[in-house]
Amino acid sequence: MRVVSGIQPTGNLHLGNYLGAIRNWVRMQDEITADGDDRAQLAGGGSAPKNQCLFFLADLHAISQPHVPAELHRGSLEMTAALVACGIDPMRSILFNQAQVPQHAELQWLLSGTARMGWLNRMTQWKDKAGKNREGQSVALFSYPVLQAADVLLYQATHVPVGEDQKQHLELARDIAQKFNNDFASEGAPVFTLPEPFIPPVAARIMSLRDGTAKMSKSDPSDLSRINLSDDPDTVMRKIKKAKTDPEPLPGELAGLADRPEALNLVTIYAAVADRSAEDVLGEFAGQGFGAFKPALGDLLVETLRPISRRFTELLEDRESLDAILATGAARARTLAGPTLDSVYRALGLVRA
Ligand code: TYM
Repeated sequence: MRVVSGIQPTGNLHLGNYLGAIRNWVRMQDEITADGDDRAQLAGGGSAPKNQCLFFLADLHAISQPHVPAELHRGSLEMTAALVACGIDPMRSILFNQAQVPQHAELQWLLSGTARMGWLNRMTQWKDKAGKNREGQSVALFSYPVLQAADVLLYQATHVPVGEDQKQHLELARDIAQKFNNDFASEGAPVFTLPEPFIPPVAARIMSLRDGTAKMSKSDPSDLSRINLSDDPDTVMRKIKKAKTDPEPLPGELAGLADRPEALNLVTIYAAVADRSAEDVLGEFAGQGFGAFKPALGDLLVETLRPISRRFTELLEDRESLDAILATGAARARTLAGPTLDSVYRALGLVRA
């Protein structure tokens, strides 16, 4: 099993990222990779293990939109600290940033001969982000999904844990891999493994606390719309208290939340964080209003986030260790990327010494 996934290092890591993706990264890491004594051996550079997790900061993706260089640099170090604080273990998983592994950008170009304009034109994220001003967007925003395909195909990923909003990009990665495998082969063998998206059955799309029809997002201008993993307890309680709701009590059945998106979102968050089903949570709170539910949700979040934000703050103070984690991860990633890239050059008939 080869698990690969990424996150843009822009803005804060929020509860949507955590429940939709990062928590599953940690679970997959804990399920499939070695621990204990094996860890030291792997870190010492033994042969590539059969099961491997690679998690990265999509810093090359982040330049597809206007950005402030100093903020991107700081964001990359903060996101590294946040991922480790959430439980990504840089000894067991390969944790790195794209910019230190040039093979990502290299493979993107090589795949650009296979990706079709029509496929990219249909991407909903492109349509949403570009809006009516397509002509004014960067080329990188348009070809963003080709880089994303390169990110996973480079490592022959088998599983890609992501939230719901990345599903279409991963389908595109599969289409690109399939077309490339059909059109070219390296020494008679297909070049790419087709990656499977892993989208969690609950919490795959956490919504904004201010609008139950909009995704919780790093780019929402209102900080009240999201819970950041670094928020202190008072901030978490205040954001939950101010979260948009309705005056009705909670129903006993999930069907009763069908046209109450904000209420459904808070119940979903509670259930996901407590690792219970939404039905079970409604069973406990049926008939109660948000005056009772919100403080319970706030307490649950504070308790869950406390160890993460404490560790995050400690890690941020050790800048050298963060740099070292990324440098070590990048060296390991570059080694794994080499053979795929060689096959791609060979399959395309490109002469390289
Ligand atoms: P990004 O940085 O927007 O988000 C990182 C991960 O968090 C998930 N996520 C959510 N899940 C549930 N509810 C939400 N409100 C929510 N918001 C975000 C995302 O689905 C994602 O899994 N293009 C990607 C980064 C990327 C990538 C890749 C991912 C680049 N290359 C290769 C997987 C494989 C992105 O911008 O994610």
